[in-house]
Amino acid sequence: MIPAVLDCDPGHDDAIAILLAAGSPEIDLRAITTVAANQTLDKVTLNAQRICSAAGISVPIARGCARPLVRPLYVAEDIHGESGMDGPAFGSITVDVVEDHAIDVIHRNMPATLVATGALTNVAAYLTRYGTSAVREIVLMGGSTERGNTTPYAEFNIYVDPEAAAIVFGSGVPITMIGLNVTHQALVTPGIVAQLNELGSLGRICGDLMTFFAATYREVFGFEAPPLHDPVAVARVIDPTLVTCVEAFVGIETTGTFTRGATVVDLHGRLGRPPNAQVAVGLDVDRFFDLVVDAVRRLS
Ligand code: BDR
Ligand code: CA
Repeated sequence: MIPAVLDCDPGHDDAIAILLAAGSPEIDLRAITTVAANQTLDKVTLNAQRICSAAGISVPIARGCARPLVRPLYVAEDIHGESGMDGPAFGSITVDVVEDHAIDVIHRNMPATLVATGALTNVAAYLTRYGTSAVREIVLMGGSTERGNTTPYAEFNIYVDPEAAAIVFGSGVPITMIGLNVTHQALVTPGIVAQLNELGSLGRICGDLMTFFAATYREVFGFEAPPLHDPVAVARVIDPTLVTCVEAFVGIETTGTFTRGATVVDLHGRLGRPPNAQVAVGLDVDRFFDLVVDAVRRLS
């Protein structure tokens, strides 16, 4: 089993990432830490409690940073709704939040793989406070080798806190970057939603999450089906062969006039800088969705 901490901002796709991590025998999920991004810290933390309560997941949940390192918070209400996880009706909360700060909880659970599916504020704060030596690897959903989804060049998680991303990518810790160029292949088709809906009450919650997510992706981006970004990072930890990667230098644009938050991926080595990341370039989509559905089935 691979020990892992999941740092997230639930968020529809983060919720499925939590289920995939907790419902897969390959991963020993030690803690869930929350960071403000898709919605405020209070909302995303409540959402982590909601999905864990619905699924009977009892790992520690810890609150992290309420805002980016130097910028005001920018949330994705247009995609995730007012609660940050609009759509399903959730039952009562049965899991508490621990008192300690996320970065102390991350520290306590190292050595482990750190999976990050929100803005990188907690991860940067953790590395700054405790250093890099105990982290085995950071697998993050963020960035792109191509265009962005929040501005023409910036993906949301990096856009929200580019200074944190610059710290993480400059840290020297082994990083795997799962960007939009790959997550946009993981489209939740009506067939996948139907499979989820068959898996009892938890499956129907997943189905309702994906139905809401599909509606906002159709409205905002004109997508026919929504991309299941964050679980791809978890899937990479479960089975690295699912995601094809290449080594490259990734620079983070923190000051561009139009490009703040862009991930500048030097695929052809033109900058002459040493690689600092494994960058995802391919995904086995069918096997990925099999993992997701199997994990929800196990938790149901
Ligand atoms: C990322 O942004 C968030 O809205 C999603 O949860 C995902 O982590 C995709 O750009
Ligand atoms: Ca997320």
